[in-house]
Amino acid sequence: MTDYSDKVVQHFENPQNSGILENPDGEAIVSNPVCGDTMSVTLRIKNLTIVNMQWQTRGCPAAIATSSYTSEFVRGMSLKEAREVSREVITQGIGGLPRDKGHCSVLAADALKKAISSYENKQKTL
Ligand code: FES
Repeated sequence: MTDYSDKVVQHFENPQNSGILENPDGEAIVSNPVCGDTMSVTLRIKNLTIVNMQWQTRGCPAAIATSSYTSEFVRGMSLKEAREVSREVITQGIGGLPRDKGHCSVLAADALKKAISSYENKQKTL
């Protein structure tokens, strides 16, 4: 994994917050149209703030590392702030990705946004 930053290697070898929350407040499953890899995200939300994010990713080292990084990055973030977390922000935060792995950060960014939307939609129906 010589093309990966130290931070990518660190998160891939020691992923944080992997798993699925029971009775999550928000959840989503997305797949990457480029490669077919998939990611599930579950969120615990209190007072419009993400207090926990857990994930399960079936994908490449970059997808797993960006999933792990994102789960730490968004903890304590307001939903408004978390909605603004783009694939570029994730890629930059993890120390960059090799050119051919640029699309791998899409999973975490998309799954996060979709899980937030699922929470907001649930609130509308309560
Ligand atoms: Fe599919 Fe990286 S190759 S997410």
